[in-house]
Amino acid sequence: MEKDKIEQAVQSAVDRYDANRAELIPILNDINRSLGYLPREALAEVGQRLKTPPSKVMSVATFYRMLSVEKMGRHVIQFCESAPCHVVGGKAVWDSLRETLEIEAGETTPDGKWTLTTVSCLGICGVGPVMVIDDEVFGSLTPDQIPGILSKFN
Ligand code: FES
Repeated sequence: MEKDKIEQAVQSAVDRYDANRAELIPILNDINRSLGYLPREALAEVGQRLKTPPSKVMSVATFYRMLSVEKMGRHVIQFCESAPCHVVGGKAVWDSLRETLEIEAGETTPDGKWTLTTVSCLGICGVGPVMVIDDEVFGSLTPDQIPGILSKFN
């Protein structure tokens, strides 16, 4: 990723929160949103701007699920792996996702299109099994729906 783009993302996030060290999480979240993940150069820059040790910045960046230090696919699938979704057929849907994409949890397809992740209960168990692709929620899933849903994304 270009240096300019990283610097710009860091600067606008740091400025938005007045370089307030107590706002490290929202700052990292902003950068993650604008770049798609948190490159190492961005983390180093944030540390310098906030006068915060790199180890602290890295530990926050790797602790929260919404933040990623790995480059993600263009689309991120979050599949609910909690028990209520599991008992209504979640396992078969999960297998369909893995087989269709030919990747496992935490991996990105070689073409950079998809990243497959799991999450805990999303609070909409009534329509389980559930997954979220980017910001879109899909509920009452069945395994045979998966290829069709994925094919709608470019
Ligand atoms: Fe899946 Fe609650 S268990 S949304």
